[in-house]
Amino acid sequence: MRILLVGNGGREHALLWKLHRDAPHADIFVTRPNGGMIPHCVGVGIDPTDVEALSGWAAAQRIDLTVVGPEAPLAAGIVDRFRSKGLPVFGPTREAARIESSKAFAKELMLDAGVPTAEHRTFTNLAGAETYLRERGAPIVVKASGLAAGKGAVVCGTVEEALDAARSMLDDLSFGEAGREVVVEDFMEGEELSIFAVSDGTHPLLLLPSQDHKRVGDGDTGPNTGGMGAYAPVSIATPEILHEARTRVFEPTLRALADQGCAFEGLLYAGLMHTDDGLKVVEFNCRFGDPETQAVLPLMESSLLELMLTVAEGGSLSGRAARWREGAAVTTVVASGGYPGSYEKGKAIHVPGGLESDGLTVFHAGTAVDAGGRLVTSGGRVLAVTALGADVPEAADRSREAAAAITFAGAFFRSDIGWRERARSSLP
Ligand code: GLY
Repeated sequence: MRILLVGNGGREHALLWKLHRDAPHADIFVTRPNGGMIPHCVGVGIDPTDVEALSGWAAAQRIDLTVVGPEAPLAAGIVDRFRSKGLPVFGPTREAARIESSKAFAKELMLDAGVPTAEHRTFTNLAGAETYLRERGAPIVVKASGLAAGKGAVVCGTVEEALDAARSMLDDLSFGEAGREVVVEDFMEGEELSIFAVSDGTHPLLLLPSQDHKRVGDGDTGPNTGGMGAYAPVSIATPEILHEARTRVFEPTLRALADQGCAFEGLLYAGLMHTDDGLKVVEFNCRFGDPETQAVLPLMESSLLELMLTVAEGGSLSGRAARWREGAAVTTVVASGGYPGSYEKGKAIHVPGGLESDGLTVFHAGTAVDAGGRLVTSGGRVLAVTALGADVPEAADRSREAAAAITFAGAFFRSDIGWRERARSSLP
């Protein structure tokens, strides 16, 4: 079997790792692989958003399945193009991917489908946004409607902050085209939960729930990042909560998309808030989460590839379920000094020999191999260290210790990944 994996971050390294486990004899091709992926794949030097070139390459190479990691190629219509050439591909079409590429579209869809989410309004001019912000008060959230690399949502403690955020998006175009339209929504109090569902367009097959850590510093302090760590499973995601997620969030959302003529086939990620009034959707993404994928996939015993093939070939997931190993996984992200602000690249990385084992995997994200053959940093989030354990505290200790053993100039990581779960597990 010949598989093309599009993307080269930590999420895609975890997908590559899992696909190799599911199909040890497959040939796996990856677009511009990072330093850790290189030994495990064949590199393809085509930009992930160059949909035309990639589909031509995949047709010529007789690729059996293409798996798309990041949102940008999905929003650029990679799935539509591959399908038009009869190439099996796992991911939503451009229209279905609007669930992430247009926050305004997602909010309207949720409103129409009765999916619980924060009250909102959408604006394309500052005057309208200002009137609403003053009326609504703070705390309040201002979001760029388009794709903004995970940085487009600003939680504002005061109306003035919210006005600054709206002004910078709408007037100064700080997020480019993505901020020409903004969504203003009520702030939600609660604990966040990430749930992924593999969807055949109708049936959501829920994967193990996980929790991201978006703030850069211990104790959830400092600016937001793409995610500094994650763990799975999450004990607040009880069977009742998962039932609620399935019946009140995933099923009506998939129905609404199908009714609009853009059934969602691929991986639907619901960012949820566990509030006193039940689950509410913070956002949807049209792809796997990063770094949650690096925690979820090492716990998956059954085949992900089989599910992806079923969906890519137009089959049904009705009656299917995934199988999970016992215990927990914790992922600690090791980042470049200065991230999420500016940082230097090209720092030599040392990963001690023997650090990785059956229950400990170092997924690469922002790494490259330089002209001298050295493994060097090439991004803000550099590595994602996933450890398994009997429970979250045990996995967290192993993950943190392994992250501390990895060195490069300026390296830092959060030492408290999984803190909420640790606190819960020590309750009498
Ligand atoms: N972990 C957040 C995201 O993948 O969007």
